[in-house]
Amino acid sequence: MKALVLAGGTGTRLRPITHTSAKQLLPVANKPVLFYGLEAIADAGITDVGLVVGDTAAAIEAAVGDGSAFGFRATYIRQQAPLGLAHAVLVARDFLGDDDFVMYLGDNFIVGGIRQLTEAFRTSRPDAQIMLTQVADPREFGVAELDQAGRVIGLEEKPQQPKSDLALVGVYMFTPAIHEAVHELKPSWRGELEITEAIGWLIDHGKTVRSTTITGYWKDTGNVADMLEVNRLVLETIESRQDGTTGAGCEIIGRVAIEAGAHVSGSRIVGPVIIGAGSTISGSYIGPFTAIGQDCVIEDSEIEYSILLRGASIRGVRRIQASLIGHEADVRRAPQVPQVHRLVLGDQSMVQISS
Ligand code: G1P
Repeated sequence: MKALVLAGGTGTRLRPITHTSAKQLLPVANKPVLFYGLEAIADAGITDVGLVVGDTAAAIEAAVGDGSAFGFRATYIRQQAPLGLAHAVLVARDFLGDDDFVMYLGDNFIVGGIRQLTEAFRTSRPDAQIMLTQVADPREFGVAELDQAGRVIGLEEKPQQPKSDLALVGVYMFTPAIHEAVHELKPSWRGELEITEAIGWLIDHGKTVRSTTITGYWKDTGNVADMLEVNRLVLETIESRQDGTTGAGCEIIGRVAIEAGAHVSGSRIVGPVIIGAGSTISGSYIGPFTAIGQDCVIEDSEIEYSILLRGASIRGVRRIQASLIGHEADVRRAPQVPQVHRLVLGDQSMVQISS
């Protein structure tokens, strides 16, 4: 069995961060979100992984390399434009050959990995196996309709009037039967070749499509609120570690991982928190569910439930919350007089000011 990982998306809802960084490489608890999926694939015993890449190909190749760090062989497949998930299957045809494969959307986050799911698929080998999960707003997803016996009888992509609240999760398992289906597709209303329609084609042509309903799933770490939630969830599982140093006047409460070369002084840290290599924290409060990347500086400030990317700094600012702060961003207190806000913001930035 092979894996096809879709890592071509541009992350429009994470602008401005994604103007300069690949969304799949944004960190969750200081590790690129894509790596969680790649680790789940390796854990399922898959050794041949194709990564479908787009404009951010160079950054993804630099981060994942030949795959040996994960225990698999990585092959990069260029998709010239984001023309849909089924289009990615088309362009990966040579890589996939006639093997079964799991298709994994690089921005999906599944708690507990995919080992059991791939084992079940390998044993019973339906033509396709999909995963479903209950969601609050099915209109944002592919939606499945099941009959009384729990069989999938219909699928619709982003329906205005969903027939259920069961959304398609971005992990699919296929036999080569899917190739005929993707060849039959026409672009959808959004101009994409939809994998949802290809699976619908399999159903209409009498093929077996099984479904499993799972919990512990996030679509799309493609927006800030979801990124922060996934970050919280992963931080819930971190263990205390003190590879860096702490100076005088520190109070460290709960699970806090301080990476090598980080230094904390005169600060109160309430875990779960991770502090990246080379970062300096002084005279500050760092509250729960905060991931501070490498080489950050936090001085005389308070922050919680936030993600800081490499090289960000915060100086003299009272409570920052639910924030995603980009590489080398500089947040600092303004002089008291005059009472003005001075901002240098990247395109499509979003700032909320409380005064
Ligand atoms: C895609 C699929 C959709 C699925 C979702 C899961 O949506 O088309 O059926 O529910 O992934 O993440 P997209 O991310 O293209 O909006």
